[in-house]
Amino acid sequence: MNHTAIKSILTGDGTEHSQTVCGWIRTKRESKNVIFIELNDGTSLNTLQIVIDKDAQIISDEMNHRLLTGASVKAVGLVKPCQGASQSVELQAQSIDIIGEAPTDYPLQKKRHTFEFLREIPHLRIRTNTFGAVARVRNTLAQSIHDFFQQRGFLWIHTPIITGNDAEGAGSMFQVTTLNMDAPPRSGSGQIDYNQDFFGKKSLLTVSGQLQVENFACGMGHVYTFGPTFRAENSNTARHLSEYWMVEPEMAFCNLDGNRELAELFIKHLLSTVLNTCQEDMDFFDKWISNGLIDSLQKVLSSPFVHLPYTDAISELEKSGEDFEYKPVWGSDLQAEHERFLTEKVVKGPVAVTDYPKDIKAFYMKQNDDNKTVRAMDILVPRLGEIIGGSQREDNFDKLKARMQEMNMDMDEYQWYLDLRRYGTIPHSGFGLGFDRLVQYVTGMQNIRDVIPFPRTPKSMIL
Ligand code: 4AD
Ligand code: MG
Repeated sequence: MNHTAIKSILTGDGTEHSQTVCGWIRTKRESKNVIFIELNDGTSLNTLQIVIDKDAQIISDEMNHRLLTGASVKAVGLVKPCQGASQSVELQAQSIDIIGEAPTDYPLQKKRHTFEFLREIPHLRIRTNTFGAVARVRNTLAQSIHDFFQQRGFLWIHTPIITGNDAEGAGSMFQVTTLNMDAPPRSGSGQIDYNQDFFGKKSLLTVSGQLQVENFACGMGHVYTFGPTFRAENSNTARHLSEYWMVEPEMAFCNLDGNRELAELFIKHLLSTVLNTCQEDMDFFDKWISNGLIDSLQKVLSSPFVHLPYTDAISELEKSGEDFEYKPVWGSDLQAEHERFLTEKVVKGPVAVTDYPKDIKAFYMKQNDDNKTVRAMDILVPRLGEIIGGSQREDNFDKLKARMQEMNMDMDEYQWYLDLRRYGTIPHSGFGLGFDRLVQYVTGMQNIRDVIPFPRTPKSMIL
């Protein structure tokens, strides 16, 4: 259907001309002589007002009754400067066609629905202001991630979704199988016989593309992977998904300082792109979702990220006198409440916490000389806590092998990973940015389930 995007009509110069638009009716109101329809087509947060002059008799009474909220219509008419204050132009209808009717049980009536209710109807929530704005900001961020890396010569590497290894060593992975789960084949000892499974071995959904993308960094230099990752942790929080998207750059000949610098440049690039290109949507979030959002993001842009080694972070927490649910002690992982305290109260902005105890971090992180800590880096932001997790990688063959043995890893599975340290090893570093957490941070949305089109969380998978 040949039609014009409502966004381009609303941002046009306002001179009178004929246009065709297609979209869904948000609301309709009526006076004695005129019918006003607010039409949205997803290209803009704003609706286009369609004005139907009853005297012109372009629609019958019967048709008027069918012009209901949710119906899809095509309207042809003249774009004219708008009399009312809220918008610059409106469309004076010359003809209206109903493309698809919406009966009165259409779930999105003109009132505010709760996000919990909308989560139950992911196929329709996209027609609301909030979810439309989230989708547009999400798209801009994804594009801007590629721009950032492509401008710097990073190659986008497509790492596999199905894998045989547990990159994070956390053990909470989904399994992929074609075996008959009612009666899986068993070996003599009663174990499931994975030789008979599709790949001839136990297969899982990836928790991270890092280990594979490291292969490319150790040959191509600067690379990144950006794709879906899967975590079968039973975490029912506002910042965990079971399927989420992650961006993972990996840089050859780069240490932890370089990694931190890139992460800061990266986040700032993403924030400034969104603030510059999604103004309408960002104003909406600022007004309706999180007051002061734009100011807080602008402040992040104009100040350097603070660097705080883990040991200092623990001291800050200990001396805070704050009544935490989990007592901060050296050696244990930072809880969400600790992360938020550090970034919101201590630093009042993003903070890069580095050099965590080795026992709470993955096997691949470079060991420090103190034998207790590793070159890890988490970036924490206000309202959310951890948004980035990364590290310099262990590049010393003997140290890495010893650490893997200490952690009882299956050495046969990781020979290729050790090979990268056996042949032409290099210092290299990288990090993972949780893409959905980024969208959450930028939009101010409270729950991560409302920034991904179709959230997957424990005991919940709609559509
Ligand atoms: O800290 P994580 O587990 O690090 C890695 O996976 C590394 N392999 C990254 C790397 O060095 N290449 O995860 C990275 C980020 C977290 O900081 C968080 O933003 C996000 O991924 N994340 C999640 N987002 C949504 N739901 C979950 N369940 C998440 N788990 C991690
Ligand atoms: Mg982490």
